[in-house]
Amino acid sequence: MTTALPLPLLSVRGLSKSFVHRNWCGRVIRHIPAVADVGFDVARGRTLGLVGESGCGKSTTGRLVLRLIEADAGDVRFDGVDIRAAAPARMRTLRRDMQLIFQDPYSSLNPRLTIGGLIEEGLIVHGVRNRGEREDRVAAVLRRVGIRPEYMGRYPNEFSGGQRQRIGIARALVLRPRLIVADEPVSALDVSVQAQVLNLLAEIQEEFGLTAVFIAHDMAVVEHVSEEIAVMYRGRIVERGRTEEVIADPLHPYTRALLDSVPSLRPRAPRRARPARDDTDGERGGGGCPFRARCDLRMPICRMVPPNTEVRPGRVVACHLHQGQAG
Ligand SMILES: Nc1ncnc2c1ncn2[C@@H]1O[C@H](COP(=O)(O)OP(=O)(O)OP(=O)(O)O)[C@@H](O)[C@H]1O
Ligand SMILES: [Mg+2]
Repeated sequence: MTTALPLPLLSVRGLSKSFVHRNWCGRVIRHIPAVADVGFDVARGRTLGLVGESGCGKSTTGRLVLRLIEADAGDVRFDGVDIRAAAPARMRTLRRDMQLIFQDPYSSLNPRLTIGGLIEEGLIVHGVRNRGEREDRVAAVLRRVGIRPEYMGRYPNEFSGGQRQRIGIARALVLRPRLIVADEPVSALDVSVQAQVLNLLAEIQEEFGLTAVFIAHDMAVVEHVSEEIAVMYRGRIVERGRTEEVIADPLHPYTRALLDSVPSLRPRAPRRARPARDDTDGERGGGGCPFRARCDLRMPICRMVPPNTEVRPGRVVACHLHQGQAG
């Protein structure tokens, strides 16, 4: 007898989104495929780390998952509910369950509102009418993130970067969400403060049984917080799997290049691909493997987009080198 696997809290398939770039007089210059055929699952209480260099489509993926922007194609299921088809009333409840933590604690908090007002906003929007209850919940959540509730009447500019990010976390947490998308939550902070905020996020996640998508461009940050990693390059997920496996045995040449740029993760790793470098050749999404122009191991077949190959259960790579190795 087979036991049915529990349904992942978040399941994404074939997610795609292009942006239209126009010139000054409004003529369409080109379509930028920001996210192309992205798919992953996140089990309940787990964290998926979404990693890749600037502009590869991480934030767009996060926003599509939360339906803050509309996808061109694909399927996003939250606890089995197809969120792209959800009616406005259903979407309102879903919005409470799925919260975003922003990258920049400076620009993401409205400077004209007190921090108490900022955190309370979500409670008002989601219909918590009793003022006393709202105040109690704001005080409790502030205390939980390490900010004294007496500071409720102060403004964001009276706090440091780390404290503001704690306030951002409190704002997401006060609605008691089930899923958090944390978009580079520590990359704008001083290194000395990053670890404290990461620890806070980890504690909160454990305490509240939160499921999370954690976005970062730095593999070392993702490694600390996620059980699984998905590596993105030019809008596509090129490799995903359990964190230890991806780090110990990266299969995609781009994952190797990313890891080689973090010596602490792979002290004795042989350098098998060129380190990541900026390039403008090999147009984005212009057919074939997205990494082709930068890959030392490219072959003629790389002119075709490599299919996702599941080499082991849960271990997926999109590279022609691994095609036919499905396990
Ligand atoms: N609203 C938009 N309009 C037009 N193009 C956009 C828009 N948002 C994103 N893009 C483009 O889509 C691509 C992916 O952007 P995205 O912000 O998702 O990348 P990212 O991986 O989050 O990068 P970063 O690490 O710099 O935050 C980029 O080429 C970007 O210029
Ligand atoms: Mg981003």
